[in-house]
Amino acid sequence: MTAKNNIKYKRHTVTAALPYANGPIHIGHLAGVYVPSDIYVRYLRLKGEDVIYICGSDEHGVPITIKARQENATPQTIVDKYHHLIKNAFAKFGITFDVYSRTSAKVHHETAAGIFKTLYDKGAFIEKDSEQYYDEENEQFLADRYIVGTCPHCGYEKAYGDQCENCGTSLSPTDLINPRSMLSGNKPVMKKTRHWYLPLDKHEPMLRRWILESHKHDWKPNVYGQCKSWIDQGLQPRAVTRDLDWGVKLPLEGTEGKVLYVWFDAPIGYISATREWGEASGKDWEKYWKDPQSKLVHFIGKDNIVFHCIIFPVILHAEGSYILPDNVPANEFLNLENDKISTSRNWAVWLHEYLEDFPGKEDVLRYVLCAAAPETKDNDFTWKDFQARNNNELLAIFGNFVNRTLVLTYKYFDGQVPAITDLTADDKETLEQMKTFPETIGQSIEQYRFREALAQMMNLARLGNRYLTEAEPWKIFKTEPGRVQTILNICLQICAGLAVLSEPFLPFTAKKLQKMLDIQPGSWQDGGTTTLLPPGHQVGKPELLFEKIEDAQVAAQVEKLLNTRKDNNEMKGAEPAKEEISFDEFSRMDIRVATILTAEKVARTKKLLKMTVDSGLDRRTVVSGIAEFYKPEEVVGKKVLLLANLKPRNIKGIESHGMLLMAENSDGELAFVTPEQAFGNGSTVS
Ligand code: 2FM
Ligand code: ZN
Repeated sequence: MTAKNNIKYKRHTVTAALPYANGPIHIGHLAGVYVPSDIYVRYLRLKGEDVIYICGSDEHGVPITIKARQENATPQTIVDKYHHLIKNAFAKFGITFDVYSRTSAKVHHETAAGIFKTLYDKGAFIEKDSEQYYDEENEQFLADRYIVGTCPHCGYEKAYGDQCENCGTSLSPTDLINPRSMLSGNKPVMKKTRHWYLPLDKHEPMLRRWILESHKHDWKPNVYGQCKSWIDQGLQPRAVTRDLDWGVKLPLEGTEGKVLYVWFDAPIGYISATREWGEASGKDWEKYWKDPQSKLVHFIGKDNIVFHCIIFPVILHAEGSYILPDNVPANEFLNLENDKISTSRNWAVWLHEYLEDFPGKEDVLRYVLCAAAPETKDNDFTWKDFQARNNNELLAIFGNFVNRTLVLTYKYFDGQVPAITDLTADDKETLEQMKTFPETIGQSIEQYRFREALAQMMNLARLGNRYLTEAEPWKIFKTEPGRVQTILNICLQICAGLAVLSEPFLPFTAKKLQKMLDIQPGSWQDGGTTTLLPPGHQVGKPELLFEKIEDAQVAAQVEKLLNTRKDNNEMKGAEPAKEEISFDEFSRMDIRVATILTAEKVARTKKLLKMTVDSGLDRRTVVSGIAEFYKPEEVVGKKVLLLANLKPRNIKGIESHGMLLMAENSDGELAFVTPEQAFGNGSTVS
């Protein structure tokens, strides 16, 4: 039993965020959620705690329906494909869920609809009619992602109803200029629709008491801070239903075509999965969710904080019979080679590909992702670091120590654990230190400090290495064989300690080492004792635990990344090269740094802006075809490059004196070419 805040917990309910089943798992997911949660539960199991570890695929939501349309498939086909891919990859990687379910399962639809109905019957929702965009041809309401139009902020013509991917602004569908339905391409009409809202504001006192007062000191500052800022900004009612045909149907009469909002049903997926597990194993699943002596912990990434700390707890609280999470140790994000991981740009290391490219090296990735986990701030994964951590830490410290110990045990004692003869002060000190590791590592794990815990585990290997190197048994075997017995006994005990205490972090290695030592540890505490290897115990032949990773292997990974990257900004088809010109011809162009002073749209044109620019030589009028990309107010004050000696041209009745230099991509989009530093007007360009 673990004690915290004077509560005695009898069991643990540990959840890991349900991944969307519309793409594979990458290292960002692993470092943020699955590696830390797996370490946590493996540790609890070794401590003999009653723990259930829950996950499954998140199979609803609009992005899945969009992917299905793009691939001319049904949403169910898409989620089937990724559900199995994800589930298998997790299993191969040693993520030991007790259950990996899915939200398209019947048990989930029943559970989620049941909880909605309970809340509905209790009057926990507000019902409200509102006007939303509707596609008359397809006879359906349009999710925000199904509406495209022109961004009112940057003029980008393919902005979505919830966000402009060009300028990053959050939008609502009615902000879009010239909205179009992605289904028919038609202009959508406004139509009345009814939805159910969860009044988060009504639960503010509960949230304040529970989070701001009770969890100020034990929740991670990033999690607590986000919650505080949400609560302080004032909570609003949130719609928990949608007009969509993919999801959990509303359990109410006359609501055809409506489903639960994916973020209402997904976290309930944890409960459904537990129920599925209970029903399959004949266990009482309810106590894991309803008994206050169950400790509920949600492992998530930082983008999920509000859903797990505010919305889901409000659902559970309103339902009335569920416990709330004791902690939500959300991680920050992992970057890859100094760039944001991105599925759409294919900038990621995919788990299923890693498992193919590095067979038998699951623990290396687990180690690196834990050592570089984004626990308190965003962090970077690089293949160089991956190689260095394998070669200089796993292999040079852990592997090397175990190997030296076993080779010497074979050399001097035919692989039998020698008995201790006499203990020196240094021996005693080493054994004393060894005893402290289970406690120290365990404390860090219980506080969700997995990097620290891993470093401590490696310190045990360092302790062994140092002890062995200083004791130099190879120099004294002839003269002091008794002393060598003691030294190797102690080294072997440390190896056994490592075989136990590395298990949460490096489960494949721990298993191999346990087999090599021929031991069967019973508990976590065994990792600090000398009982696993009694004198005379025969150990197996030394085998290498880790292999060197070569430069060529990581170079190949970097190359693969670069080759498969889909860069949105990359030219898809570059214009053919122009004819050669002489330097003389180039130098006849008078290009100057200039500042735009005023700008206005040229009446009755779509593309033209009339601007006054300060060229350093004069103030002049320039007309430019950029109005589809820049609004007048956005360009005023901009430093630009002006071709100043271009013959004046009459454009729509306005005399234009020069031309602003613009870059144009293969989609015909224009962007200013500006000096990298704000040089004075009139500065020349050559
Ligand atoms: O962000 C995500 O990937 C979501 N699919 C996480 C859901 S967690 C839980 F609520 F199901
Ligand atoms: Zn925009």
